[in-house]
Amino acid sequence: MYKIAVIPGDGTGPEVIREGLKVLGVVGKKAGFKYESVMYDFGGERYKRTGEVLPDSALEEFKTFNAIFLGAVGHPDVKPGILEQGLLLKLRFGLEQYINLRPVKLYPGVWTPVKDKGPEDIDFVVIRENNEGLYVGEGEFKNKGTKDEVAIQISRNTRRGVERCVRFAFEYTKKRNKRKKLTLCGKTNVLTYAFDLWERVFNEVAREYKDIITDYAHVDATCMWMIKNPEWFDVIVTDNMFGDIITDLGAMVQGGMGIAAGGNLNPEGVSMFEPIGGSAPKYTGKNVINPLAAISAAAMMLETLGEEKAAGMVEKSIMKVTPKMKSMSAGKMGYSTQEVGDLVVKNL
Ligand code: IPM
Ligand code: MN
Repeated sequence: MYKIAVIPGDGTGPEVIREGLKVLGVVGKKAGFKYESVMYDFGGERYKRTGEVLPDSALEEFKTFNAIFLGAVGHPDVKPGILEQGLLLKLRFGLEQYINLRPVKLYPGVWTPVKDKGPEDIDFVVIRENNEGLYVGEGEFKNKGTKDEVAIQISRNTRRGVERCVRFAFEYTKKRNKRKKLTLCGKTNVLTYAFDLWERVFNEVAREYKDIITDYAHVDATCMWMIKNPEWFDVIVTDNMFGDIITDLGAMVQGGMGIAAGGNLNPEGVSMFEPIGGSAPKYTGKNVINPLAAISAAAMMLETLGEEKAAGMVEKSIMKVTPKMKSMSAGKMGYSTQEVGDLVVKNL
């Protein structure tokens, strides 16, 4: 019996989470596992009502779960940053989810803006460091509000933080057993402190993985190759900020936000799974948002929990459903949100 904490969150979050849970329930019966879910109403509405984003006590409570399933964070009436930092980043940092795993895979029948590339070319995974870098929120203003103002934002990279991420990436590349190639994405030519550390750690750990092919690409070049030659990539490891940026590019390459899923992993603790897309206020409550990213995130959750068979069933079903859909975009799928969820259930 798995205990899953569910945070539907803002905007279209609740609609896509509903479909994810629907699929989980049915695949659980078929694959022979049970789960119990506890709903949490953290998000913009609760913040507006109570002024509370995420109390420390909730963070402690989440540690007693096997996983967290998150819908979306971001509310049009709440100043940007409050929910993102106070909820999403607080969860990622507070639960030490130091890996952000973001597969970029083009499913059958899904349109990609990259001309002449198909599912055989677009299938790689980005491993984004999730607890450090520019995201630590350290910095300062000097002479704020004057002509001489300076704003400093620190990118913190620790040996321990970088090494555990790089080690995870090598292990993941080995287990994935595809092209056995790991690319470090950085900016060694400019970020001469941060990526010097990353490069040293990468090369050092690489010596323990003789069967893994290693490569390096600057982040700008990575963007270029992701469009021109996506088939060159197998697994990419990078820091928090670069990972954030290249995975939005990745989401587009794989057919849009409607299909892109991510996992915030603490391999020794509680992990959290979410669709990469935001709360999409303009589509909220219309039953038009694509639930496949959330369903895919649920599949990643199953895989992480050790329910590989169930995870495989969900992914195979998604691959049967994508060719039937007109588009991955909200309102253009040819089906409603609920109908897409039903189709995944039917094809399990
Ligand atoms: C993401 C999002 C978040 C991030 C924001 C909402 C803080 O863009 O999950 O990629 O930058 O990590
Ligand atoms: Mn992002």
